[in-house]
Formats: sequence, structure tokens, C-alpha cells
Amino acid sequence: MKKKVVLAYSGGLDTSCIVYWLKERGYDVVAFLADLGQQEDLRAAKERALKIGASNVYIADVREEFIHNFIYPAIKANAVYEGRYLLATALGRPLIAKYLVETAHREKAQYIAHGCTGKGNDQVRIEITANILDPRLEILAPVREWEFTSREEEIEYAKEKKIPIEVTKKKPYSLDKNLWGISIECGILEDPYVQPPEDAYQVTVSPEKAPAKPQYLVLGFEKGVPVSIDGRAYKPQDLLETLNKLGGAHGIGRTDMVENRLVGIKSREVYEAPAGWIIHTAHRELESLVLDREASHFKQGIDAKYAELIYNGFWYSPLKHALDGFINATQKFVSGDVRLKLYKGSCVCVGRRSAHSLYSKALATYTKEDIFDQKLAAGFIKILGMPYKQVARQARGK
Ligand code: ARG
Repeated sequence: MKKKVVLAYSGGLDTSCIVYWLKERGYDVVAFLADLGQQEDLRAAKERALKIGASNVYIADVREEFIHNFIYPAIKANAVYEGRYLLATALGRPLIAKYLVETAHREKAQYIAHGCTGKGNDQVRIEITANILDPRLEILAPVREWEFTSREEEIEYAKEKKIPIEVTKKKPYSLDKNLWGISIECGILEDPYVQPPEDAYQVTVSPEKAPAKPQYLVLGFEKGVPVSIDGRAYKPQDLLETLNKLGGAHGIGRTDMVENRLVGIKSREVYEAPAGWIIHTAHRELESLVLDREASHFKQGIDAKYAELIYNGFWYSPLKHALDGFINATQKFVSGDVRLKLYKGSCVCVGRRSAHSLYSKALATYTKEDIFDQKLAAGFIKILGMPYKQVARQARGK
């Protein structure tokens, strides 16, 4: 029986060469293309895969699933890696890998393949997901082992084998885009001291070019996820697209950082996630209003772990699943409105309200409406401070 492989295909140079390269080695190649909102011409990519010799090509529109099952959990968990990366690429990979596994089952293929290099996180995310979902599948990663050492050599190969690629001049950056954001790498960005040139940014204007007038908006949440803008209900995808446009126009959501990859490499990364930052800012703010102190503080630790699990490729792991239980429990009352001000690259909360708010003006106020019994504070502190009188004695040695 011929060896059959399902390849995560993008239509770009690498995966186009991979189709041919695998065929040369005797594989029957099925290409799989996922639409995660990257706004690329998937039809053209499909035609290309067929021309190169794929025996079958699947296109799956996974945008709804991406939002509901990947972006929403990330929102609820305030998932940000190393404080600044909203994990757009990292969230997309397990979903793609899940479909590779499903397609392999449908096609009765024994292999899946991807076009990731051996230096990044994406290979880990795809392979660990596949290991969990079907440990019998074997994984091929041609880029880790093939003979080409440069893009030029690959282009030579493509020309020689008549692989239809658009041999435009070398793109200045490597891009990976979906509904939650875009990752920008390579080229001049590899020098972490060089300011990212304006043309590196794909979906945001520079704060300098943003409108001189701030824009206010009210983001409405229902159990931890955004559902409305200025009181109007939006479909999930429309909401993200609207906020991406709005935020992008105000220069919001840019990140320039040096991050720690799982494989031990530090890399300079540029990201844009306008909708992501607006939603994240608002979500955290609403939590501050409705979560009690203990749950809130404990959740911050869980959130950080959750982000790390996403980054490192453990989306389908038992721990991630267990943490979902905790996180979902905390979102029961995360409903309400957050008023935000967008202005020249910044997005700040200027107001928040919720029917489940734990804020009590009567307790907080310094006016005569105060209902807080200040006399009780004396006893509270006396008992709280009591052990420290012993600590002081201990320090004095008696
Ligand atoms: N460093 C980011 C991450 O690990 C972005 C990776 C971008 N991937 C890509 N194939 N261009 O998630």
C-alpha cells in the first residue's frame, strides 16, 4: 500500500516544495488548508497544491471553532505569554493539528506532515497535539531534514521541478496571521536593537498617525466573553473584526519583544493584536470588579500557567483541561460593561459596571453615607498583627 500523508499546507514556498519533495519520496500527498481568518486566497492555494501533485486538497473554514473553542478560553484566562504575547499563532496550531489528525483518519493516512522548522514552537505544538489525539500517527517534518540550506536553494528546486510558486522578490518578513492577531518575524527584525520599520506592521497605524481625538467605546461581556459594542450585540467574528479595525486605526495592540522559545532560543518578535488587547484590557478590568480577592489573586497564577501551556503546545493536555474547569467556574459573574478610551496607541479603561459587582460604594465611601464600622478595624488588626509581636521577640532574642 502506498504511504499516505496529510500535509498542513499554506500555499507558500516551503509547503509547496514539501508537496513535491514528499511525492518524490513515494508518498501520496493530501493537502489540508485551514481558514483561521488569515485573509489569504485559499482557492488559489488549493489549485497550486493540485498542480504540484496533491491527490486531494481540503479547505476547512474553522473560524467559528477557533473563536469559540480557542480564543474564548484564552480571553477568560487572560492568556498572555511573558506579559506581552497574546498567543495568536500558538492558539491556532492545536486546531490545525486536530484537523490534520481528523483528515488522516478520513483519508486513511498513516502520516501527517508540517512545514515548521526545527527551531520554533510551532513544530512542538503540532506534534504534541497529534501525539495526544492519535499516538499511532507518524509525523514528517521535511524542513528539519531536507537538503536545502537557504531560500535561494529552495527557489532553485521549485524552478527545476516546475513547482508553481510566485517568485516575487524575497518578502522582508515572515508573517502568520489569524483572527486573534499576527506574528511578524525575520529580516531586519532579527537585530533586537533595531526599531521595527513601519512596514513591518500589517494591521495597525503608528500612534503618531492615529487620530488626534480619542475614541470611546463600551465593550459588553457575558460570562467572560465579549458580546457587544456600545450596547449593540455582535456576532463573534464581526466583533473581532470590528475591534481589529477600530484598534488598528488607533495604533493599538503592537508588541515588540524578545521572547523565550520552548526550544531554548531567544527570539525577537513583533506582534499586532488590536482586538486582542482591547478585549484583554476590558476583561481583566471586569474581573477586578466581580471576583473576590482570593479567587482573583489565585487566578492570576493559573492564568500565567495557562498561557505557558498554550505557548508550549499543551492545549490538549490533562492539566490544561483541568485548569479550564477552574477558569470557567470563575467566569460565572464576569458579565457587564467596560468603558474604554482608545487614543494614540493606548487603550485604557475609564469605567466598569456589572450587575454582579462586588464593589460597594457604601463601604468604600469617605462621605457620611459610610456604613463601614471603623471601630472594628482595631480588633481586626490587633489579631492580624499578634503573631508579629512574637516575631519581634524572636528577633530580639527574648
Ligand atoms: N514566536 C511566536 C510563537 O511561537 C510566533 C511564531 C510565528 N510562526 C510562524 N510560523 N511564522 O507563537
